[in-house]
Amino acid sequence: MTVKRRRTVPEVRNPALELSLVKPIATGDNQQRESTVKNTEGEPLLRFEGSSNPYLEHQRNDLLLSIQHMRSEGHDEMVFLCITHCKELTFKAMHYELVNMQARVKADDVAGALQLAPRVLALLGFLGKTWDVLSTITPHGFNQFRNTLGIASGQQSYMYRHVEFVLGNKSEALARAHENNPDVWPYMERALTSPSLYDEVLALLHRRGIAVPPEALARDWAQPYPVNPGVEAAWLQVYADPTPENDLYLLGEALTDIADAFSQYRWRHFVSVERILGFKAGTGGSAGVGWLRRIVDHRFFPELWSMRTQL
Ligand code: HEM
Repeated sequence: MTVKRRRTVPEVRNPALELSLVKPIATGDNQQRESTVKNTEGEPLLRFEGSSNPYLEHQRNDLLLSIQHMRSEGHDEMVFLCITHCKELTFKAMHYELVNMQARVKADDVAGALQLAPRVLALLGFLGKTWDVLSTITPHGFNQFRNTLGIASGQQSYMYRHVEFVLGNKSEALARAHENNPDVWPYMERALTSPSLYDEVLALLHRRGIAVPPEALARDWAQPYPVNPGVEAAWLQVYADPTPENDLYLLGEALTDIADAFSQYRWRHFVSVERILGFKAGTGGSAGVGWLRRIVDHRFFPELWSMRTQL
């Protein structure tokens, strides 16, 4: 039987801007394509009406390729801008998959949630690889454009913050950095105060008859996740049957894969920053590498890590 799953498209910003940029395009179908290919004799269409083409109208790459504006004379600024934009898009793609994983867990659709995990992992692997490119920026190369960043920092990325929040690393202080932006703040506040993917997984364990402490099932979701020995006991119960037939065990391992890859991403950011900046202060007002060190020690889904000592 084929299960019909509805997708969830998360909103992280007032959609008005996005909608104002959409251009209507004619849709196609197999019949139209077959008749076109007869006319073109198999060669691609190369003449278009007006001053644009359907690919640009569909993807708006004219906009995408117009936002890597170099503000310095530094050679390395271009790769920094391009990879930063790639990363923001990757955060967006990953957030979409994670929100859908969460919706499927909430709907008791464990198989559906598991189906999305490999893509999240692949996106994280891709993000990790961006440090291969960024760490080709030398301290000298970075210094040539660093001042033009002013006090801008990746730490101010609302897309990244949504990824952290859906996974469960809540921080009201970091969320409030977006409070001044009326197009962004309502969605940020909603993400801060809503259960995370992990919170929904714990609710799922409870529905499946595994004892989860009540304080893990109903709490102030905006608060940082408090590690709970009762949740560790719940996972130990799940992990007592480490077989492919146990879907909760598979879900626990899929979440661990994600947390593992995320920690590696953070580690690579941290090491690359030390390589490029040394121990200079960050542009965003933090101590730089010293501030990032704390985040390196954070693990998503903490009891999935701590319970391993008992296995
Ligand atoms: C390649 C040069 C880079 C350097 C030297 C660098 C440096 C830093 C530093 C020092 C911080 C601490 C906050 C502050 O700015 O004071 C930080 C945070 C951060 N950076 Fe970068 N960064 C670089 C590239 C990137 C890129 C390309 C992205 C992604 C678009 C990014 C995303 C972030 C995020 C999301 C944080 C906050 C981390 C968190 O909240 O856990 N960084 N970075």
